[in-house]
Amino acid sequence: MPIKKLYHPYPVVPCIIIVKSNEKINGMSVAWHSPLSFSPPLYGVLISPKRYTYELIVTAKDFTINFISYEKAKLYAIFGRISGRERDKIKEFNIELVESEKIITPYMKDAYAVYECKKVRQVKTGDHILFVGEILEVHEEKQKFTEEGIPDLKNLNPTFYLGRDIYFTTKEVEGPVKILP
Ligand SMILES: Cc1cc2nc3c(=O)[nH]c(=O)nc-3n(C[C@H](O)[C@H](O)[C@H](O)COP(=O)(O)O)c2cc1C
Repeated sequence: MPIKKLYHPYPVVPCIIIVKSNEKINGMSVAWHSPLSFSPPLYGVLISPKRYTYELIVTAKDFTINFISYEKAKLYAIFGRISGRERDKIKEFNIELVESEKIITPYMKDAYAVYECKKVRQVKTGDHILFVGEILEVHEEKQKFTEEGIPDLKNLNPTFYLGRDIYFTTKEVEGPVKILP
């Protein structure tokens, strides 16, 4: 079977990476991202060199990871289907940016959770590049997380991405329930 599509790990909760470099700011949607370590706290994003964001991140010192709830899922479509090479997504869609506490790159006011990341490494994995960031600061809307820190689905509609521009949230499913062996 020819390997062209890799949608088997989907659905995923995407994020938007924002990068500021040499006074230019841009962002894009990312489905391929993951925590990599607790101590130090590391987060990884995979970016194709075709992206304008790639051009910025290679020279940037840092970036922010922004999680957007389903009510604003259109932002994933905007940041994932338009290139900053042709259009300024931030200006055109009136995206409100907030100054970060520890890094140069700002974060999105629309996000319910944010990681401020210092770029610490980049690794060519194939046709994508893994950018590793050390998380220096976390912002989150407190009421959207339980005391244990997991998403509180009573107050949060996370965005899930199935691929091919299809999005959904958890509202239609039963649960959630704790499953133990
Ligand atoms: C939900 C979603 C997830 C995406 N995930 C990735 C990804 O993980 N890595 C990647 O390189 N591109 C990914 N893309 C594509 C980029 O977001 C898209 O090409 C974007 O327009 C690039 O913008 P830029 O040229 O301004 O950087 C994704 C697109 C969507 C809609």
